[in-house]
Amino acid sequence: MIKNGYLIIEDPDLKETKEYVCGGSSGIKIKMDQEEYYVKYRNESDIFKELFYEEIAKYLKIPTIEYISAIINGKKAIISKNFNLKNEPTKNLYEILKNYKNFMKMHPDLFVTSDIDENYNLETIWWVLLYYYKDHPRKNELVQKLMDQIMESFLFQIISFNYDLNYTNIIIIDNEEPYLSPNFDYERCGLAGDPDFNSNYDLKAIPTTTDQTHLEMIQDFINVSDQFYIEKLFGYIDRLIILDYDEIFRKIEEKIKYQIPKEIKTDLIKDYDKKLKEIKKLKPSSKKRQKVNNVA
Ligand SMILES: Nc1ncnc2c1ncn2[C@@H]1O[C@H](COP(=O)(O)OP(=O)(O)O)[C@@H](O)[C@H]1O
Ligand SMILES: [Mg+2]
Repeated sequence: MIKNGYLIIEDPDLKETKEYVCGGSSGIKIKMDQEEYYVKYRNESDIFKELFYEEIAKYLKIPTIEYISAIINGKKAIISKNFNLKNEPTKNLYEILKNYKNFMKMHPDLFVTSDIDENYNLETIWWVLLYYYKDHPRKNELVQKLMDQIMESFLFQIISFNYDLNYTNIIIIDNEEPYLSPNFDYERCGLAGDPDFNSNYDLKAIPTTTDQTHLEMIQDFINVSDQFYIEKLFGYIDRLIILDYDEIFRKIEEKIKYQIPKEIKTDLIKDYDKKLKEIKKLKPSSKKRQKVNNVA
């Protein structure tokens, strides 16, 4: 039964509940209709945020998990079906990077930072993945594919103004043909990019020890990245700037069979446009890009 936008789940003893710990995260899972669901007990505003950014991801054709708003024994939650249907081994980036701390220490030349522990960044991840998959028969191709998927996720997170750029939120399904899980965990989206809001990211564009604003991090990203990724970033931004928010809300309302209160809608899109336009201003002119390419 769905009531006021929430799927009502009554399970007096939550018999099937299982706790899990994964990387730095823990929580509970429940079984429903033979399927396993991850549960996050959250307040209403976080719940709508997860639903909203899921739709943004779908709009940009970025893989995402599907969230369902639910009330479990009276407590509000957001639940999602386990994306690891075949129960294959998984590793989040936190686990992979921690394992390779010694490797990083042995190669200070590869990791241009004094404090590796705190300074994971896109380049570090690339080196560590190459090492992690060193025995894979097609390691270069595989790491390139994973990096493309990680970059897509990274770009999505930064244009969603996610304040929780966090390596436990990046999971690799680590079977014979490893691939990245769909994106998830959007409850801190929309927060980064507020004026003077320093980032506190685990995952950075480049190694840096200073607190950066969201815009500064994106600028770093643009300074060091391949044109392909820069085009991709601005392609997403151009699509988001013309986004019809009513259409996004209609999709959520269709799913939860409930009309989202106006204050929640306003809150979700507050400053979003403004922030996107700020990033858009960082777009290098094509002349400048050409020059960089010629040098390269
Ligand atoms: N649908 C899902 N399928 C598989 N694993 C999931 C799913 N949802 C969450 N998880 C696991 O649970 C962890 C915590 O979920 P997340 O949404 O990141 O919550 P938190 O806000 O507590 O970080 C994730 O890092 C992931 O390992
Ligand atoms: Mg998380």
